Amino acid sequence: PTPIILDCDPGHDDVFAIWLAAGHPEIDLRAITTVGGNGQLGQTTYNARVVTELAGITGVPISPGADGPLLRGLTPAGGVHGENALGGPELPVPSLAADPRTAIELIRDTLDRAEQEVTIVATGPLTNIAMFVRAHPDRLSRVREVVWMGGSTERGNITPYAEFNSWSDPEAAAIVLASGLPFTMIGLNVTHQALATPDVLARIGAIGNRTAAFGVELLSFLNAAYDKDQGMPAGPLHDPVAVALVAVPGVVTTVRTRLDIELHGTETAGATSVDLLGNLKRPPNADVGTGIDVPEFWRMIEAAIRTLA
Ligand code: BDR
Ligand code: CA
Repeated sequence: PTPIILDCDPGHDDVFAIWLAAGHPEIDLRAITTVGGNGQLGQTTYNARVVTELAGITGVPISPGADGPLLRGLTPAGGVHGENALGGPELPVPSLAADPRTAIELIRDTLDRAEQEVTIVATGPLTNIAMFVRAHPDRLSRVREVVWMGGSTERGNITPYAEFNSWSDPEAAAIVLASGLPFTMIGLNVTHQALATPDVLARIGAIGNRTAAFGVELLSFLNAAYDKDQGMPAGPLHDPVAVALVAVPGVVTTVRTRLDIELHGTETAGATSVDLLGNLKRPPNADVGTGIDVPEFWRMIEAAIRTLA
């Protein structure tokens, strides 16, 4: 199995990323770090603790990282995820505590203790990963790659041209991209195919364990919110697509291309410029998601949830 650190901002779809990472046999989830994004850092950390414990996941430390973007203000995604970033089900009070280390310390220690390179899967704004890159340039060789849910080869979801994670902290994304770490971007052009349709909800509901029941409540809320906010009655489950790519090569297809992050646009900050036609003649610097085997993706989600509590 591939050892990973999951950096996230739960968030409904981040929850499924945690569950897929914990429940898939080809992933070894070593650590969870949280970032301000969908909600304030206190909320995203609390939510991570709740859903990790609820799913019976043990031995995975959870550490809070940055409470907001490097340069910009935090603008939580309340429209889609609700006021606590995890609207829908009643959240049980977790007894699982956060790890006393900061996210940056936990990433460092996890890399130092690993017997092989570790993959970082990031499903929120890239603030923590940029801070790690700046704090520990000597540790970058311990990172196999960064796989990020963010951006798009097409248009955005928070502004006409920017996707939420990219728009939240474009400077962080640019720092990680410039670090030289192998970088994969899974954007909306792929994740908008992973739709939580009624059939998906029925199949997850039929699993019959407590994680599945909680998951169906999450997806029901997400679908209602996406319908209202984005005109999509079946909401996309963005974040676990990044985990799926690491778990089973081929489930998500990518192309090697040039990726740049817009930092200065008056209307387009956070837009991801993906030079699919090679017009810019710049060296390729990223693998960018282009397609997904949707039925296989949902089979993976179901199978993972089946292994949980
Ligand atoms: C991304 O933004 C967040 O709201 C989701 O959790 C996902 O990471 C999609 O644009
Ligand atoms: Ca997220």
